[in-house]
Amino acid sequence: MKKIDISVIPGDGIGKEVMPEALKVLETVAEVHGGLSFSFKHYPWSCDYYIEHNKMMPEDGLDQLKESDAVFLSAVGDPNLVPDHISLWGLLVKIRREFEQVINIRPAKQMKGIQSPLVHPNDFDLIVVRENSEGEYSEVGGRIHRGEDEVAIQNAVFTRKGVERAVEYGFQLAQNRRGHVTSATKSNGIVHSMPFWDSVFESVAEKYPDVKTASNHIDALASFFVTRPQEFDVIVASNLFGDILTDVGAAIMGSIGIAPAANININGKYPSMFEPVHGSAPDIYGKGIANPIGQIWTGKMMLDHFGEHELGNTLLQVIEEVLQDGIKTPDIGGTSSTTEVSDAIVTRLKTLK
Ligand code: NAI
Ligand code: MG
Repeated sequence: MKKIDISVIPGDGIGKEVMPEALKVLETVAEVHGGLSFSFKHYPWSCDYYIEHNKMMPEDGLDQLKESDAVFLSAVGDPNLVPDHISLWGLLVKIRREFEQVINIRPAKQMKGIQSPLVHPNDFDLIVVRENSEGEYSEVGGRIHRGEDEVAIQNAVFTRKGVERAVEYGFQLAQNRRGHVTSATKSNGIVHSMPFWDSVFESVAEKYPDVKTASNHIDALASFFVTRPQEFDVIVASNLFGDILTDVGAAIMGSIGIAPAANININGKYPSMFEPVHGSAPDIYGKGIANPIGQIWTGKMMLDHFGEHELGNTLLQVIEEVLQDGIKTPDIGGTSSTTEVSDAIVTRLKTLK
């Protein structure tokens, strides 16, 4: 029996609604598999926890999480209770940073049964590999001369190690997909870091002669996501470029409520963290209509991470079948509730046993 220990953090708002549904689905997936079992350890860390303890997690919170094989998180943030910079930096960002989750991956796919806002969505199925630890999101810089003569300097930091491991990850993914990697660059405008990025990309590419490559400037690339997303397989991008591209990716799928993501630790020292793209959606919290698919698909990425690709693909197929049956939450044009969607997925999975 393969046993996977998972730390579960539902967090705030709809996180508390979609997480139980995703766990229900994962339990069923384990039953269908027969040789797999999950052990879930629940952590109540959230804005409510902050109100009670004046911190988002206990001092030894990371040590507790470190014991598990993966962290499964939903959404953090409730601006009515705690300012976002405190809640997100006190939990989510802390885990990403301290656990050296240096790669962020986000797939975007034309899902059967969901209407993409694109007029001709064709059949896109791509994945963005985003550098998650440095680049444009650095703390290097500062501001001087407040007021009229003010100067602000924000330095981007690109290290050979950081770029190499992100690009390398992209090539390895591509080998198990359609064998194509696109680099998001901007070496025509950003004249130091981006030519450096390009040169690292080229040198990594030489190690993968079987993988085809392309390089696009980020502005053009963002527009191609809209006009011909079907041409992309794996895209590797810096922190900022990846952030923007993945939002475009979620948008062309049809709803942020279905978009999954993973923060990957690649040195094996700490667990990776799996979390959907969406936040805590205070506007719909409590109505029972949150789309659980983002969280469930994120669970599929966790299955992939533990080598259960076949099972992961089966789960994704079942999700699409349920969508095609019209069992959908309102954000994607349906009238079903959160639990109706996950129950339908569970029921279908059980027929596979
Ligand atoms: P959001 O993603 O929570 O909501 C944006 C819009 O999408 C809302 O209209 C919401 O109803 C809808 N939506 C989101 N997820 C949905 C789902 N599963 N089903 C149906 N509709 C869904 O972003 P927002 O409103 O900017 O942020 C709310 C809170 O969440 C803030 O505190 C923010 O900081 C936090 N947040 C946390 C994230 C995380 O934990 N990774 C990511 C994004 C935001
Ligand atoms: Mg973003």
